Amino acid sequence: MSLRVGVVGCGYLGATTAVCLSSMGHHVTATDVDAARVQALNEGRTPFFEPGLADLLATQLASGRLKFTTEMPRLTQQSDIVFLCVGTPQSAGELATDMRQVDSATQTLIAALQHPVVVVGKSTVPVGTAARLRAELKAHSPNSELVWSPEFLREGRAIEDTLAPDRIVIGAAADDARGSEAVLAVFADQVAAGTPVVHTDLPTAELVKISANAYLATKISFINAMSEVCEVAGANVLKLSEALGYDERIGAKFLRPGLGYGGGCLPKDVRALYARGSELGAAQAVAFLDEVDAINQRCRQRVVDLTEEVLGGPVAGRRIGVLGAAFKPNTDDTRDSPALDVAGRLHLRGASVSVYDPQAMQTARRHRPTLTYAETAAAACRDADLVLLLTEWPEFSALDPEEFGRAVRHRRIIDARHALVEKDWSAAGWTYRAPGVSLS
Ligand code: UGA
Repeated sequence: MSLRVGVVGCGYLGATTAVCLSSMGHHVTATDVDAARVQALNEGRTPFFEPGLADLLATQLASGRLKFTTEMPRLTQQSDIVFLCVGTPQSAGELATDMRQVDSATQTLIAALQHPVVVVGKSTVPVGTAARLRAELKAHSPNSELVWSPEFLREGRAIEDTLAPDRIVIGAAADDARGSEAVLAVFADQVAAGTPVVHTDLPTAELVKISANAYLATKISFINAMSEVCEVAGANVLKLSEALGYDERIGAKFLRPGLGYGGGCLPKDVRALYARGSELGAAQAVAFLDEVDAINQRCRQRVVDLTEEVLGGPVAGRRIGVLGAAFKPNTDDTRDSPALDVAGRLHLRGASVSVYDPQAMQTARRHRPTLTYAETAAAACRDADLVLLLTEWPEFSALDPEEFGRAVRHRRIIDARHALVEKDWSAAGWTYRAPGVSLS
């Protein structure tokens, strides 16, 4: 069944959701307050790099089912179900969530309503937000409903995750059955294909999302804490992680040690849950999240310390080639990127740092204009005293250590993401170091 769906917000979540909902056969009107972004999307240009999204955008625009606009009344006129997909970044100077986009988008939506709608919240919000927004909506439009159905898509796999989610969570107040049915109708194909559906109340749905991210972050920080222990014990965290991962109760996913987590979600969600849990009176229950964050921050400093150790002293005046700027491969997102953070710390200490990333050069330049950027891996590492691999792009794993070695002054590499085969690099005369892996 083809439904009339609106999407508010055309950032990472919103643009992907709009394109995917259209590809599922629905008629989609998406809005954003950024006119340049709306124009780009209408012309078939995606505002960020996401594998497959540009092609899917082109086919959906051509289908006539997908339109982007800055005008909220156009959206409300053409939609019966409205997905709320605006950003919820960390507030400047505090741990809590910046709710300005959610609040202003909701107010604009409510003011523009021309008939009752079902609002489906997708953004990651502090628990309690959905009930508040629902009350505001009902005060203006008593027959409208608001449900919360969090999104679990990963950058780099956003289309796959949206079209074939591993679960659908629908949080609704007891008398909002129509809202739950609307979500099930939008995702009818996925439900028919057997995707598990979990029905909850509003606060549980909000908490599912943020606790999923907090759990993933905790798992990463756990293995990175063990990496620190491995270093002092003369052990090998890669072997430790491999052995732990075979235990089905633990599982190998999100147990990769290295430079820790970054991006627009995990770091701010760990802090937001810490802040909201404390605010609600569960400070002790969320206290460990502060430690999760601290371990994650230490990953970055440990690579800086390892850099000084390998160079045998301060980095000032030394040439360092940096491979990677994105917070993970297959994205051009550099928000809270561990790679750029380490590059920036070394630059501040006086090193001459040159950065290359296969996709994130433009975003990196915007975020860290003071760093130097190069057009290829070899150019970034030309005459380098040391190379740092900070984002595990396949392009870097495929480097030929012998040929690549001709670019640098000294064959020294820190593989902060454990992306290389140590013996290949050692055989080509490189001094190879990686966090959590002791020298034998
Ligand atoms: C994350 C969640 O995985 C999604 O489920 C969620 O929907 C999304 O946030 C969101 O809230 O919107 P994403 O930010 O795209 O997705 O990134 P992840 O794939 O989770 O990776 C996060 C970071 O963890 C990256 O910096 C990655 O390099 C790091 N990581 C991941 C590790 O250091 N070790 C691992 O084993 C796995």
